[in-house]
Amino acid sequence: MAVPTPHNSAKIGEIAKTVLMPGDPMRAKYVAENFLENPVLVNNVRGIQGYTGKWKNTEVTVMASGMGIPSIGIYSWELYNEYGVENIIRIGTAGAMSDKLQLRDLVLAQGASTDSNFMNQYKLPGTFAPIASYKLLRAAEEAADKLGLNTVVGNILSSDVFYGDDATDNDAWRKMGILAVEMEAAGLYATAARCGKNALAICTISDHLYRSEQLTADERQTSLKQMITVALDTAAIIAE
Ligand code: HPA
Repeated sequence: MAVPTPHNSAKIGEIAKTVLMPGDPMRAKYVAENFLENPVLVNNVRGIQGYTGKWKNTEVTVMASGMGIPSIGIYSWELYNEYGVENIIRIGTAGAMSDKLQLRDLVLAQGASTDSNFMNQYKLPGTFAPIASYKLLRAAEEAADKLGLNTVVGNILSSDVFYGDDATDNDAWRKMGILAVEMEAAGLYATAARCGKNALAICTISDHLYRSEQLTADERQTSLKQMITVALDTAAIIAE
């Protein structure tokens, strides 16, 4: 296969070495229009908007992943294998499970456990542990520190199920110290591992599964701005 791919119409050279991936295409547009210098739309297949521009003199692409492990699996695989991308930083929201977490907290997903069968394709004689790139994790922590933002580093759950039938499933994960749940990181981490590339998921806590709290629209916007800045600064740090 070559470029363009069935899911990405960008040409070779139009996508930066580091890609930020929000789930939502409108968020990709928001990042491009409000943070990047001279953003250029490089993909819009299925409305999965991708823009390339500059942040602090570093070329960065921001492209949506869609929702769920299969979707991020497709886009990240193509970016790594067909477009020569080295680093993908997911930026998303997550629902907190841990009592330690507050709304708006920034979680750096050191590991991503999962209930998905995605890893079965690798035919491993055991269980694979999807982990973040240490280089990206360290850079993200440095970026957040410089901005005076607190981060929580640990294991999250990438679930295939949003409307789960059995809420007690969450209790089992919680007992294992899982901080929060989202739906993509484990697929991204496994794909990065298989491709020999780097990945990190940064998540803003948007709701709490055990305290029925959620961010207001205003709080959500402010927190997302902080997360976007951390992710972009991470891209700049690793390019130094
Ligand atoms: N589940 C899955 N993904 C999420 C959640 C959730 O509760 N909150 C934000 N992203």
